Amino acid sequence: METDTQKKYFFIRTFGCQMNVHDTEQMAALLREAGWKETASEGKAGLILINTCSIREKAAQKVYSLLGRLQEVKRNKPGLILGVAGCLAQQLGGQLVRKIPAVDLVFGTHQAHRLPEFIRTVEGGGRVIETVFTDSVRSLHRITLPPAGTISAFVTIMQGCNNYCAFCVVPYLRGREESRPFRDILEEIRQLAGRGVREVVLLGQNVNSYGRNLAEGADFADLLREIAGVEGIERIRFTTSHPKDLSDKLIRAFREIGPLCEHIHLPVQSGSDRVLSRMNRGYTREDYLGKVARLRDACPEVAISSDMIVGFPGETEADFEDTLALMEEVRFDSLFSFKYSEREGTAALLLDGKLDDRIKGRRLRILQELQDRYTMEKNQRDVGRTLEVLVEGTSRNSGADLMGRTRTNRIVNFPGDGVWIGRTVPVTIREAFLHSLRGEAVLPGLQSPALPASPEAA
Ligand code: SAH
Ligand code: SF4
Ligand code: F3S
Repeated sequence: METDTQKKYFFIRTFGCQMNVHDTEQMAALLREAGWKETASEGKAGLILINTCSIREKAAQKVYSLLGRLQEVKRNKPGLILGVAGCLAQQLGGQLVRKIPAVDLVFGTHQAHRLPEFIRTVEGGGRVIETVFTDSVRSLHRITLPPAGTISAFVTIMQGCNNYCAFCVVPYLRGREESRPFRDILEEIRQLAGRGVREVVLLGQNVNSYGRNLAEGADFADLLREIAGVEGIERIRFTTSHPKDLSDKLIRAFREIGPLCEHIHLPVQSGSDRVLSRMNRGYTREDYLGKVARLRDACPEVAISSDMIVGFPGETEADFEDTLALMEEVRFDSLFSFKYSEREGTAALLLDGKLDDRIKGRRLRILQELQDRYTMEKNQRDVGRTLEVLVEGTSRNSGADLMGRTRTNRIVNFPGDGVWIGRTVPVTIREAFLHSLRGEAVLPGLQSPALPASPEAA
Protein backbone atom coordinates (compact mmCIF):
# COMPACT_ATOMS: atom_id res chain seq x y z
CA MET A 1 0.00 0.00 0.00
CA GLU A 2 1.17 3.50 -0.77
CA THR A 3 2.19 5.40 2.31
CA ASP A 4 1.62 9.11 2.74
CA THR A 5 5.31 9.95 2.39
CA GLN A 6 5.54 8.19 -1.00
CA LYS A 7 2.90 10.46 -2.44
CA LYS A 8 4.10 13.52 -4.31
CA TYR A 9 2.23 16.62 -3.20
CA PHE A 10 1.57 19.75 -5.22
CA PHE A 11 0.34 23.19 -4.25
CA ILE A 12 -0.87 25.82 -6.74
CA ARG A 13 -1.34 29.55 -6.06
CA THR A 14 -3.47 31.40 -8.59
CA PHE A 15 -3.57 35.10 -9.46
CA GLY A 16 -5.75 36.86 -12.01
CA CYS A 17 -9.03 36.23 -13.73
CA GLN A 18 -11.51 33.35 -13.76
CA MET A 19 -9.84 31.99 -16.88
CA ASN A 20 -6.68 31.62 -14.88
CA VAL A 21 -8.57 29.96 -12.04
CA HIS A 22 -9.91 27.45 -14.54
CA ASP A 23 -6.44 26.91 -16.05
CA THR A 24 -5.28 26.05 -12.54
CA GLU A 25 -8.09 23.49 -12.25
CA GLN A 26 -6.92 21.94 -15.50
CA MET A 27 -3.28 21.82 -14.38
CA ALA A 28 -4.35 20.21 -11.11
CA ALA A 29 -6.31 17.58 -13.07
CA LEU A 30 -3.21 16.83 -15.20
CA LEU A 31 -1.05 16.48 -12.11
CA ARG A 32 -3.54 14.17 -10.42
CA GLU A 33 -3.56 11.98 -13.54
CA ALA A 34 0.24 11.89 -13.33
CA GLY A 35 0.09 10.54 -9.77
CA TRP A 36 0.45 13.75 -7.78
CA LYS A 37 -1.82 14.67 -4.90
CA GLU A 38 -3.03 18.17 -4.06
CA THR A 39 -2.27 19.69 -0.66
CA ALA A 40 -3.56 22.87 0.94
CA SER A 41 -0.31 23.21 2.84
CA GLU A 42 2.52 24.93 1.00
CA GLY A 43 5.02 23.44 3.48
CA LYS A 44 4.04 19.87 2.59
CA ALA A 45 4.35 20.34 -1.16
CA GLY A 46 7.23 18.99 -3.26
CA LEU A 47 5.96 21.01 -6.22
CA ILE A 48 4.78 24.61 -5.96
CA LEU A 49 3.24 26.20 -9.02
CA ILE A 50 2.36 29.87 -9.30
CA ASN A 51 -0.23 30.61 -11.97
CA THR A 52 0.37 34.28 -12.68
CA CYS A 53 -1.38 37.39 -13.99
CA SER A 54 0.11 40.47 -15.61
CA ILE A 55 -2.96 42.61 -16.25
CA ARG A 56 -1.66 45.45 -14.05
CA GLU A 57 1.75 46.21 -12.54
CA LYS A 58 0.40 45.35 -9.08
CA ALA A 59 -0.50 41.82 -10.19
CA ALA A 60 3.08 41.28 -11.39
CA GLN A 61 4.54 42.69 -8.16
CA LYS A 62 2.51 40.27 -6.04
CA VAL A 63 4.04 37.40 -7.99
CA TYR A 64 7.59 38.71 -7.51
CA SER A 65 7.21 39.07 -3.78
CA LEU A 66 5.78 35.55 -3.49
CA LEU A 67 8.58 34.10 -5.62
CA GLY A 68 11.17 35.96 -3.54
CA ARG A 69 9.80 34.30 -0.43
CA LEU A 70 9.64 30.85 -2.04
CA GLN A 71 13.24 31.23 -3.17
CA GLU A 72 14.17 31.47 0.52
CA VAL A 73 12.01 28.42 1.35
CA LYS A 74 13.84 26.46 -1.33
CA ARG A 75 17.23 27.18 0.24
CA ASN A 76 16.28 24.83 3.08
CA LYS A 77 14.46 22.40 0.81
CA PRO A 78 16.61 21.87 -2.28
CA GLY A 79 14.38 19.17 -3.82
CA LEU A 80 11.39 21.52 -4.02
CA ILE A 81 10.23 22.12 -7.61
CA LEU A 82 9.23 25.72 -8.25
CA GLY A 83 7.19 26.43 -11.37
CA VAL A 84 5.66 29.59 -12.87
CA ALA A 85 2.72 29.41 -15.29
CA GLY A 86 0.27 31.86 -16.80
CA CYS A 87 0.41 35.35 -18.24
CA LEU A 88 3.49 36.72 -16.47
CA ALA A 89 5.38 33.54 -17.38
CA GLN A 90 4.28 34.06 -20.99
CA GLN A 91 5.47 37.66 -20.89
CA LEU A 92 8.84 37.17 -19.19
CA GLY A 93 9.93 33.63 -20.08
CA GLY A 94 13.66 33.28 -19.34
CA GLN A 95 13.83 36.74 -17.75
CA LEU A 96 11.95 35.27 -14.79
CA VAL A 97 14.67 32.73 -14.18
CA ARG A 98 17.35 35.42 -14.38
CA LYS A 99 15.45 37.41 -11.76
CA ILE A 100 14.62 34.44 -9.52
CA PRO A 101 17.18 31.70 -10.19
CA ALA A 102 15.44 29.19 -7.91
CA VAL A 103 12.66 28.81 -10.49
CA ASP A 104 12.92 25.41 -12.26
CA LEU A 105 10.05 25.68 -14.66
CA VAL A 106 8.47 28.52 -16.65
CA PHE A 107 5.71 27.80 -19.15
CA GLY A 108 3.34 30.00 -21.09
CA THR A 109 -0.39 30.08 -21.67
CA HIS A 110 -0.33 27.74 -24.68
CA GLN A 111 1.87 25.11 -23.06
CA ALA A 112 -0.01 24.02 -19.95
CA HIS A 113 -1.07 20.66 -21.43
CA ARG A 114 2.64 19.63 -21.37
CA LEU A 115 2.98 20.11 -17.61
CA PRO A 116 3.60 16.41 -16.70
CA GLU A 117 6.34 16.20 -19.34
CA PHE A 118 7.96 19.40 -18.01
CA ILE A 119 7.99 18.05 -14.49
CA ARG A 120 9.69 14.84 -15.57
CA THR A 121 12.42 16.97 -17.20
CA VAL A 122 12.91 18.95 -13.99
CA GLU A 123 12.94 15.75 -11.91
CA GLY A 124 15.69 14.52 -14.24
CA GLY A 125 17.77 17.57 -13.33
CA GLY A 126 16.80 19.86 -16.22
CA ARG A 127 15.26 23.30 -16.35
CA VAL A 128 12.30 24.17 -18.59
CA ILE A 129 11.41 27.48 -20.24
CA GLU A 130 8.61 27.05 -22.79
CA THR A 131 6.64 30.07 -23.97
CA VAL A 132 6.00 29.57 -27.68
CA PHE A 133 2.52 30.29 -28.95
CA THR A 134 0.98 27.39 -30.84
CA ASP A 135 -1.67 27.87 -33.52
CA SER A 136 -4.23 26.07 -31.47
CA VAL A 137 -4.52 25.81 -27.73
CA ARG A 138 -4.50 22.11 -26.87
CA SER A 139 -6.38 22.50 -23.61
CA LEU A 140 -9.35 23.70 -25.69
CA HIS A 141 -9.80 20.21 -27.06
CA ARG A 142 -9.56 18.42 -23.79
CA ILE A 143 -12.32 17.73 -21.31
CA THR A 144 -11.40 18.28 -17.67
CA LEU A 145 -13.85 17.47 -14.95
CA PRO A 146 -13.83 19.23 -11.58
CA PRO A 147 -13.68 17.39 -8.24
CA ALA A 148 -16.81 15.49 -7.12
CA GLY A 149 -19.30 17.69 -5.29
CA THR A 150 -18.73 20.74 -7.53
CA ILE A 151 -22.03 22.58 -8.02
CA SER A 152 -20.88 25.44 -10.26
CA ALA A 153 -18.24 24.69 -12.88
CA PHE A 154 -16.25 26.76 -15.36
CA VAL A 155 -16.30 25.74 -19.01
CA THR A 156 -13.91 27.35 -21.46
CA ILE A 157 -15.61 28.21 -24.72
CA MET A 158 -12.87 30.31 -26.27
CA GLN A 159 -9.28 31.43 -25.81
CA GLY A 160 -7.37 34.56 -26.63
CA CYS A 161 -8.51 37.96 -27.83
CA ASN A 162 -8.31 39.93 -31.07
CA ASN A 163 -9.55 43.25 -29.75
CA TYR A 164 -6.33 45.05 -28.84
CA CYS A 165 -7.79 47.58 -26.43
CA ALA A 166 -5.00 50.14 -26.09
CA PHE A 167 -4.38 49.47 -22.39
CA CYS A 168 -4.49 45.68 -22.42
CA VAL A 169 -1.79 42.97 -22.55
CA VAL A 170 -4.14 40.02 -22.89
CA PRO A 171 -3.91 39.63 -26.71
CA TYR A 172 -0.11 39.45 -26.40
CA LEU A 173 -0.19 36.93 -23.57
CA ARG A 174 -3.10 34.70 -24.55
CA GLY A 175 -2.80 34.85 -28.32
CA ARG A 176 -5.40 35.08 -31.09
CA GLU A 177 -9.04 34.37 -30.50
CA GLU A 178 -10.02 30.74 -30.95
CA SER A 179 -13.43 29.18 -30.29
CA ARG A 180 -13.77 25.68 -28.99
CA PRO A 181 -15.91 23.35 -31.11
CA PHE A 182 -19.63 23.33 -30.26
CA ARG A 183 -19.85 19.56 -29.77
CA ASP A 184 -16.84 19.47 -27.38
CA ILE A 185 -18.44 22.11 -25.18
CA LEU A 186 -21.76 20.28 -25.11
CA GLU A 187 -20.12 16.95 -24.39
CA GLU A 188 -18.23 18.47 -21.46
CA ILE A 189 -21.40 20.05 -20.08
CA ARG A 190 -23.31 16.76 -20.37
CA GLN A 191 -20.57 15.03 -18.40
CA LEU A 192 -20.59 17.82 -15.80
CA ALA A 193 -24.36 17.54 -15.39
CA GLY A 194 -23.99 13.77 -14.96
CA ARG A 195 -21.64 14.43 -12.03
CA GLY A 196 -24.06 16.71 -10.22
CA VAL A 197 -22.98 20.11 -11.58
CA ARG A 198 -26.01 22.42 -11.66
CA GLU A 199 -24.50 25.66 -12.99
CA VAL A 200 -22.00 26.31 -15.76
CA VAL A 201 -20.01 29.52 -16.14
CA LEU A 202 -18.88 29.88 -19.75
CA LEU A 203 -15.47 31.50 -20.04
CA GLY A 204 -13.77 33.60 -22.69
CA GLN A 205 -12.27 37.10 -22.97
CA ASN A 206 -15.01 38.04 -25.37
CA VAL A 207 -17.73 35.38 -25.40
CA ASN A 208 -20.01 37.39 -27.70
CA SER A 209 -17.74 36.70 -30.63
CA TYR A 210 -17.90 32.94 -30.03
CA GLY A 211 -18.01 30.91 -33.22
CA ARG A 212 -16.31 33.34 -35.59
CA ASN A 213 -13.50 30.95 -36.47
CA LEU A 214 -15.71 27.86 -36.61
CA ALA A 215 -17.10 26.30 -39.76
CA GLU A 216 -20.36 25.38 -38.02
CA GLY A 217 -21.87 28.85 -38.40
CA ALA A 218 -23.25 28.86 -34.86
CA ASP A 219 -22.95 31.91 -32.64
CA PHE A 220 -22.96 32.46 -28.88
CA ALA A 221 -26.74 32.72 -28.57
CA ASP A 222 -27.11 29.39 -30.42
CA LEU A 223 -24.63 27.83 -28.01
CA LEU A 224 -26.62 29.09 -25.02
CA ARG A 225 -29.80 27.61 -26.43
CA GLU A 226 -28.20 24.18 -26.85
CA ILE A 227 -26.71 24.24 -23.36
CA ALA A 228 -30.08 25.15 -21.90
CA GLY A 229 -31.35 21.83 -23.27
CA VAL A 230 -28.83 19.74 -21.32
CA GLU A 231 -30.66 17.82 -18.62
CA GLY A 232 -29.61 18.75 -15.10
CA ILE A 233 -28.16 22.18 -15.95
CA GLU A 234 -30.31 24.69 -14.09
CA ARG A 235 -28.24 27.80 -14.53
CA ILE A 236 -25.98 29.27 -17.18
CA ARG A 237 -23.68 32.26 -16.66
CA PHE A 238 -20.93 33.66 -18.84
CA THR A 239 -18.03 36.06 -18.67
CA THR A 240 -16.79 38.34 -20.23
CA SER A 241 -18.81 40.03 -22.91
CA HIS A 242 -17.58 42.97 -24.96
CA PRO A 243 -20.18 45.72 -25.46
CA LYS A 244 -19.35 46.19 -29.13
CA ASP A 245 -20.31 42.58 -29.92
CA LEU A 246 -23.42 42.32 -27.74
CA SER A 247 -26.06 41.44 -30.35
CA ASP A 248 -29.83 41.89 -30.19
CA LYS A 249 -30.06 38.11 -30.55
CA LEU A 250 -28.09 37.68 -27.34
CA ILE A 251 -30.15 40.36 -25.60
CA ARG A 252 -33.32 38.44 -26.53
CA ALA A 253 -31.74 35.28 -25.07
CA PHE A 254 -32.07 36.83 -21.60
CA ARG A 255 -35.82 36.82 -22.04
CA GLU A 256 -36.15 33.54 -23.90
CA ILE A 257 -33.66 31.09 -22.37
CA GLY A 258 -34.92 29.99 -18.93
CA PRO A 259 -31.65 28.74 -17.39
CA LEU A 260 -29.70 31.85 -18.48
CA CYS A 261 -29.21 33.83 -15.28
CA GLU A 262 -30.26 37.48 -15.08
CA HIS A 263 -26.74 38.85 -14.87
CA ILE A 264 -24.30 40.23 -17.40
CA HIS A 265 -20.77 41.50 -16.87
CA LEU A 266 -20.39 44.18 -19.51
CA PRO A 267 -17.14 46.13 -19.02
CA VAL A 268 -17.50 49.75 -20.12
CA GLN A 269 -14.06 51.12 -19.02
CA SER A 270 -15.01 54.80 -19.34
CA GLY A 271 -18.00 57.08 -19.78
CA SER A 272 -16.20 59.50 -22.10
CA ASP A 273 -16.34 59.08 -25.88
CA ARG A 274 -12.93 60.67 -26.28
CA VAL A 275 -11.36 58.19 -23.85
CA LEU A 276 -13.28 55.21 -25.28
CA SER A 277 -11.96 56.05 -28.71
CA ARG A 278 -8.38 56.42 -27.46
CA MET A 279 -8.83 53.06 -25.71
CA ASN A 280 -9.85 51.49 -29.04
CA ARG A 281 -12.99 50.00 -27.50
CA GLY A 282 -15.13 50.20 -30.64
CA TYR A 283 -18.29 51.74 -29.10
CA THR A 284 -19.49 55.11 -27.86
CA ARG A 285 -21.19 56.05 -24.64
CA GLU A 286 -24.51 56.20 -26.52
CA ASP A 287 -23.98 52.71 -27.99
CA TYR A 288 -23.35 51.38 -24.50
CA LEU A 289 -26.35 53.11 -22.94
CA GLY A 290 -28.53 51.87 -25.82
CA LYS A 291 -27.49 48.27 -25.14
CA VAL A 292 -28.14 48.65 -21.42
CA ALA A 293 -31.62 50.00 -22.20
CA ARG A 294 -32.38 47.11 -24.57
CA LEU A 295 -31.13 44.58 -22.01
CA ARG A 296 -33.40 46.05 -19.35
CA ASP A 297 -36.27 46.19 -21.75
CA ALA A 298 -35.87 42.49 -22.62
CA CYS A 299 -35.24 41.47 -19.01
CA PRO A 300 -36.14 44.05 -16.34
CA GLU A 301 -34.52 42.05 -13.54
CA VAL A 302 -31.11 41.81 -15.22
CA ALA A 303 -28.16 42.74 -12.99
CA ILE A 304 -25.37 44.57 -14.81
CA SER A 305 -21.80 44.65 -13.54
CA SER A 306 -18.86 46.34 -15.19
CA ASP A 307 -15.17 47.25 -15.17
CA MET A 308 -13.87 50.82 -15.15
CA ILE A 309 -10.41 52.30 -15.60
CA VAL A 310 -9.55 55.74 -14.20
CA GLY A 311 -6.56 57.81 -15.23
CA PHE A 312 -6.13 56.52 -18.78
CA PRO A 313 -3.60 58.76 -20.59
CA GLY A 314 -5.21 62.10 -21.47
CA GLU A 315 -8.27 61.59 -19.21
CA THR A 316 -9.37 65.10 -18.17
CA GLU A 317 -11.56 66.07 -15.22
CA ALA A 318 -14.41 66.46 -17.72
CA ASP A 319 -13.84 62.92 -19.04
CA PHE A 320 -13.85 61.63 -15.48
CA GLU A 321 -17.11 63.51 -14.80
CA ASP A 322 -18.57 61.75 -17.85
CA THR A 323 -17.65 58.43 -16.26
CA LEU A 324 -19.39 59.37 -13.00
CA ALA A 325 -22.42 60.56 -14.96
CA LEU A 326 -22.58 57.26 -16.84
CA MET A 327 -22.46 55.42 -13.52
CA GLU A 328 -25.30 57.54 -12.24
CA GLU A 329 -27.33 56.80 -15.33
CA VAL A 330 -26.71 53.05 -15.46
CA ARG A 331 -26.49 52.28 -11.71
CA PHE A 332 -24.37 49.16 -12.02
CA ASP A 333 -25.13 46.36 -9.58
CA SER A 334 -21.41 46.08 -8.96
CA LEU A 335 -18.27 47.53 -10.46
CA PHE A 336 -14.60 46.57 -10.55
CA SER A 337 -12.50 49.70 -10.88
CA PHE A 338 -8.80 50.16 -11.46
CA LYS A 339 -6.16 52.83 -11.82
CA TYR A 340 -4.71 52.71 -15.31
CA SER A 341 -1.45 50.74 -15.23
CA GLU A 342 1.14 50.91 -18.03
CA ARG A 343 1.75 47.57 -19.69
CA GLU A 344 4.65 46.65 -21.91
CA GLY A 345 3.90 46.35 -25.60
CA THR A 346 0.47 48.00 -25.47
CA ALA A 347 -0.57 50.89 -27.73
CA ALA A 348 -1.40 53.19 -24.80
CA LEU A 349 2.31 53.45 -23.97
CA LEU A 350 2.66 55.77 -26.96
CA LEU A 351 -0.18 58.09 -25.90
CA ASP A 352 0.55 61.45 -24.34
CA GLY A 353 -1.11 62.87 -21.24
CA LYS A 354 0.14 60.37 -18.67
CA LEU A 355 -1.43 61.14 -15.29
CA ASP A 356 0.13 61.43 -11.89
CA ASP A 357 -0.59 58.54 -9.54
CA ARG A 358 -2.14 60.95 -6.99
CA ILE A 359 -4.73 62.07 -9.52
CA LYS A 360 -5.55 58.47 -10.42
CA GLY A 361 -5.84 57.62 -6.70
CA ARG A 362 -8.18 60.51 -6.04
CA ARG A 363 -10.42 59.65 -9.00
CA LEU A 364 -10.52 56.00 -7.97
CA ARG A 365 -11.59 56.91 -4.43
CA ILE A 366 -14.37 59.19 -5.63
CA LEU A 367 -15.60 56.57 -8.07
CA GLN A 368 -15.53 53.76 -5.55
CA GLU A 369 -17.38 55.76 -2.90
CA LEU A 370 -20.10 56.53 -5.41
CA GLN A 371 -20.34 52.91 -6.53
CA ASP A 372 -20.49 51.63 -2.93
CA ARG A 373 -23.62 53.74 -2.49
CA TYR A 374 -25.21 52.33 -5.63
CA THR A 375 -24.23 48.76 -4.73
CA MET A 376 -25.79 49.14 -1.28
CA GLU A 377 -28.95 50.63 -2.79
CA LYS A 378 -29.25 47.70 -5.20
CA ASN A 379 -28.58 45.12 -2.47
CA GLN A 380 -31.09 46.81 -0.15
CA ARG A 381 -33.79 46.38 -2.75
CA ASP A 382 -33.61 42.61 -2.22
CA VAL A 383 -34.41 42.87 1.51
CA GLY A 384 -37.84 41.32 2.12
CA ARG A 385 -37.84 39.50 -1.22
CA THR A 386 -37.75 35.73 -1.50
CA LEU A 387 -35.18 34.69 -4.07
CA GLU A 388 -34.02 31.42 -5.54
CA VAL A 389 -30.60 30.58 -4.17
CA LEU A 390 -28.49 27.78 -5.64
CA VAL A 391 -26.56 26.45 -2.66
CA GLU A 392 -22.86 26.01 -3.52
CA GLY A 393 -21.44 25.02 -0.14
CA THR A 394 -20.87 26.22 3.39
CA SER A 395 -20.28 29.90 4.08
CA ARG A 396 -16.72 31.20 4.24
CA ASN A 397 -17.49 33.39 7.23
CA SER A 398 -19.24 30.80 9.33
CA GLY A 399 -19.18 27.06 8.74
CA ALA A 400 -22.66 26.89 10.29
CA ASP A 401 -24.16 28.83 7.38
CA LEU A 402 -24.71 27.86 3.78
CA MET A 403 -23.58 29.99 0.85
CA GLY A 404 -25.28 30.35 -2.48
CA ARG A 405 -26.04 32.87 -5.18
CA THR A 406 -29.16 34.52 -6.50
CA ARG A 407 -29.71 34.36 -10.24
CA THR A 408 -28.51 37.97 -10.30
CA ASN A 409 -25.13 36.80 -8.89
CA ARG A 410 -25.51 38.11 -5.34
CA ILE A 411 -23.95 36.00 -2.62
CA VAL A 412 -26.41 34.90 0.05
CA ASN A 413 -25.49 33.39 3.43
CA PHE A 414 -28.20 31.69 5.44
CA PRO A 415 -28.57 29.01 8.13
CA GLY A 416 -29.42 25.63 6.67
CA ASP A 417 -28.69 21.99 6.28
CA GLY A 418 -25.67 20.60 4.37
CA VAL A 419 -28.00 18.29 2.43
CA TRP A 420 -29.25 21.38 0.60
CA ILE A 421 -25.88 21.83 -1.16
CA GLY A 422 -26.57 21.56 -4.88
CA ARG A 423 -30.23 22.46 -4.51
CA THR A 424 -32.10 25.63 -5.30
CA VAL A 425 -33.72 26.93 -2.14
CA PRO A 426 -36.09 29.90 -1.74
CA VAL A 427 -34.51 32.32 0.71
CA THR A 428 -36.11 35.43 2.17
CA ILE A 429 -33.51 38.19 2.35
CA ARG A 430 -33.30 39.86 5.77
CA GLU A 431 -30.13 41.98 5.58
CA ALA A 432 -27.98 43.54 2.87
CA PHE A 433 -24.25 44.24 3.01
CA LEU A 434 -21.86 45.60 0.41
CA HIS A 435 -20.65 42.21 -0.78
CA SER A 436 -23.38 39.80 0.30
CA LEU A 437 -26.92 39.29 1.54
CA ARG A 438 -28.18 37.39 4.54
CA GLY A 439 -31.47 35.54 4.73
CA GLU A 440 -33.60 32.64 5.91
CA ALA A 441 -34.67 29.61 3.91
CA VAL A 442 -38.41 29.47 3.39
CA LEU A 443 -39.12 25.79 2.88
CA PRO A 444 -36.57 23.27 4.06
CA GLY A 445 -35.97 20.12 2.07
CA LEU A 446 -37.46 21.24 -1.27
CA GLN A 447 -36.14 19.56 -4.40
CA SER A 448 -34.94 22.11 -6.92
CA PRO A 449 -36.93 20.93 -9.97
CA ALA A 450 -40.15 21.55 -8.04
CA LEU A 451 -39.38 25.25 -7.66
CA PRO A 452 -40.73 27.91 -9.98
CA ALA A 453 -38.17 29.41 -12.37
CA SER A 454 -38.86 33.06 -11.68
CA PRO A 455 -36.28 34.96 -9.62
CA GLU A 456 -39.16 36.70 -7.90
CA ALA A 457 -40.82 33.47 -6.72
CA ALA A 458 -42.35 34.50 -3.43
N1 SAH B 1 -11.78 40.71 -21.64
C1 SAH B 1 -12.30 41.53 -20.66
C2 SAH B 1 -11.32 42.13 -19.69
C3 SAH B 1 -10.18 41.36 -19.17
S1 SAH B 1 -9.11 42.24 -18.12
C4 SAH B 1 -13.00 42.68 -21.37
O1 SAH B 1 -12.73 43.00 -22.48
O2 SAH B 1 -13.79 43.29 -20.76
C5 SAH B 1 -10.17 42.76 -16.80
C6 SAH B 1 -10.20 44.23 -16.57
O3 SAH B 1 -8.93 44.72 -16.18
C7 SAH B 1 -10.53 45.05 -17.80
O4 SAH B 1 -11.88 45.07 -18.08
C8 SAH B 1 -10.00 46.41 -17.42
O5 SAH B 1 -10.96 47.16 -16.73
C9 SAH B 1 -8.85 46.08 -16.49
N2 SAH B 1 -7.55 46.36 -17.12
C10 SAH B 1 -7.02 45.74 -18.19
N3 SAH B 1 -5.83 46.30 -18.48
C11 SAH B 1 -5.61 47.30 -17.59
C12 SAH B 1 -4.56 48.24 -17.39
N4 SAH B 1 -3.51 48.28 -18.18
N5 SAH B 1 -4.68 49.11 -16.35
C13 SAH B 1 -5.76 49.07 -15.54
N6 SAH B 1 -6.77 48.21 -15.69
C14 SAH B 1 -6.71 47.32 -16.71
FE1 SF4 C 1 -8.14 43.06 -23.16
FE2 SF4 C 1 -9.86 44.37 -24.64
FE3 SF4 C 1 -9.35 41.81 -25.16
FE4 SF4 C 1 -10.70 42.48 -22.98
S1 SF4 C 1 -11.36 42.79 -25.10
S2 SF4 C 1 -9.02 41.03 -23.10
S3 SF4 C 1 -9.78 44.40 -22.39
S4 SF4 C 1 -7.91 43.51 -25.36
FE1 F3S D 1 -4.43 38.29 -15.82
FE2 F3S D 1 -3.92 36.83 -17.91
FE3 F3S D 1 -6.34 36.84 -16.88
S1 F3S D 1 -3.13 38.84 -17.53
S2 F3S D 1 -6.52 38.88 -16.07
S3 F3S D 1 -4.51 36.11 -15.89
S4 F3S D 1 -5.84 36.68 -19.04
